[in-house]
Amino acid sequence: LLNLEKNLPLKNQKVVITAGGTKERIDPVRYITNDSSGKMGYSLAVAARNLGAEVYLISTSKVLKTPYGVTLVSVETAEQMHQAVNAEFEKAAIVIMAAAVSDYRPSHISNKKIKKNEQEMVLRLVKNTDILATLGNQKKDQFLIGFAAETHNIQEYAKDKLIKKKADMIVANDVSKPNAGFNKDTNEVSIFMMDEEPIELTVNSKQAIAEEILAIALTKMKK
Ligand code: CTP
Ligand code: CA
Repeated sequence: LLNLEKNLPLKNQKVVITAGGTKERIDPVRYITNDSSGKMGYSLAVAARNLGAEVYLISTSKVLKTPYGVTLVSVETAEQMHQAVNAEFEKAAIVIMAAAVSDYRPSHISNKKIKKNEQEMVLRLVKNTDILATLGNQKKDQFLIGFAAETHNIQEYAKDKLIKKKADMIVANDVSKPNAGFNKDTNEVSIFMMDEEPIELTVNSKQAIAEEILAIALTKMKK
């Protein structure tokens, strides 16, 4: 029994994970989204569950299978995702923002299908709330993990996000690399934490990367 407990370091702890790209409606038949599949978030959910955690997976995916023993909260928009995270945040030990949250949403959602009446049209967008930054400002003992999808200047942008969003860890991936990022089964990431040298994780399955991310987080969490 003792041995089992040792292998379940997140037993009785709540881990909240967001996954997938949010969808922002334009009209009843159209929306804005991105290339995120949700695979990294789902891999993290499996890894956290295997460490004994009570896992809440807040996901936009309508394709991926909910891992056994994980509680799924299905959302579509950034706003819905924010509300769902907020509902679980206070009691969470770890929150992982693996979702690709739309930076903008249409300023107005048309309740009728927009007709192609004009030769040129303007779609007005308004910025979404930065969920991770909001959590960074609210957090007490929660360990907050964000992701950074970049195509260039990774180190600079990732460190900037770590500071600005008050995260405990930023997992950065170069989405222009062939074995990393959106919709792949593998990933290659760099981990940034305050007052630490970046940790480079070589290319591996998203499942193995997820396990490494949580192992590193566990070493940094307040006991
Ligand atoms: N994020 C969030 N809420 C948003 C936008 C992003 O919580 N409205 C989170 C993402 O889930 C991710 C982190 O912030 O964990 C970084 O997302 P990213 O898109 O890389 O950075 P942004 O801050 O949105 O900046 P930019 O897209 O301009 O690089
Ligand atoms: Ca963004």
